[in-house]
Amino acid sequence: MFLKRLECSACQREHEWSQLQNLCGSCNKPLFAIVDLAAVSRTLNRETLFARERSLWRYRELLPLPADAEPVSLGEGGTPLLRARKFAGDVELWIKDESLNPTQSFKARGMSVAVSMAKYLGATKLAVPSAGNAGGALAAYAARAGLEAHIFMPCDTPRANIVECRELGAHVTLIDGLITDCGAEIARRKANEGWFDMSTLKEPYRVEGKKTLGYELAERLNWQLPDVILYPAGGGTGLIGMWKAFDEMEALGWIGKKRPRMFAVQAAGCAPIVRAFQAGEKTAAEFPDAQTIASGLRVPKAIGDFLMLKILRESNGGAIAVADEEMIRVAPEVGASEGLFICPEGAACFVALNLLRSAGKIASGERVVIFNTGSGIKYLDIFETEPIRGNI
Ligand SMILES: Cc1ncc(COP(=O)(O)O)c(C=O)c1O
Ligand SMILES: [Zn+2]
Repeated sequence: MFLKRLECSACQREHEWSQLQNLCGSCNKPLFAIVDLAAVSRTLNRETLFARERSLWRYRELLPLPADAEPVSLGEGGTPLLRARKFAGDVELWIKDESLNPTQSFKARGMSVAVSMAKYLGATKLAVPSAGNAGGALAAYAARAGLEAHIFMPCDTPRANIVECRELGAHVTLIDGLITDCGAEIARRKANEGWFDMSTLKEPYRVEGKKTLGYELAERLNWQLPDVILYPAGGGTGLIGMWKAFDEMEALGWIGKKRPRMFAVQAAGCAPIVRAFQAGEKTAAEFPDAQTIASGLRVPKAIGDFLMLKILRESNGGAIAVADEEMIRVAPEVGASEGLFICPEGAACFVALNLLRSAGKIASGERVVIFNTGSGIKYLDIFETEPIRGNI
């Protein structure tokens, strides 16, 4: 057992991990799992990892689940890191293709770990507000664990996400509003209903699953982190998780001090982090009238805003907004050049690459990693702009 305690990411107050926890009891900010890295390093090293299974549970000692508990797993993680061929221009571009996860998005990583812990600690009914993909992932892992899933999504969530949650046996409620309204509805009802709130960063373990993105990158790139990471940020859990992974790996002696420049990519119609970054703020105000076809980026207010902003600054990276039309324009370009049907959130990163390259913020020859966080297949309502005719 390598999990030592939970610690508040803002005020550092300690919390007991052995009971279900949401936010810090003092300041209502996210809790982080603190792993005993000295103990881990006595049983796990870069060489022992080599022979392990491909799924993210290969990093078992670094994950919070006690050794005697069976993970709730569908084979998540271990996704390909592909060298881009034609789209790359003069940078060394790599694409982490997260569409190959169970339920076709990177949300599977966080849910595998968080559902495993929720089950271990005795939760029976799990609730989540979702832009779509987190809902599908919770539905799948809750089904696998034999737990109830209660999913709240905005009415305009892509159809595939809604159908998927229902087919996986979840209780689905559509809300005429944004993901923040879905979260508020859960907060209002959870005590009465006996739901455990699985909102991202409002429980400590989804970020633990997401941190494996950082471990996989380092392992695959032979323990040399890239120069730049472009990440489509809504709640920012992957960005925050990777940063935590980098610090853990440095403490383990697996990597050095170098960190990538981290860029949060958002949609022009919902860019609270970009605004706050440019204004030099430490937290981000709620973005008014949030609108974008990239449903995963339709997050007007994120509880991890202060963590994201700190990482972007500490890493000497930044935040950049991309127009919806550009995402739709670039997706088939990436499709035809790289063979990947990417999601609009992933597409936003490819647009951002071109913008940052033109602005001189990424130099020729630099090693850049883009996260394609999900599959375009879930977004047919957005991509199918013309009726299909002809010989099919
Ligand atoms: C495909 C996709 N990409 C990116 C995001 C944003 O992820 P995060 O909330 O970790 O920033 C989401 C969230 O719903 C998503 O579904
Ligand atoms: Zn606190």
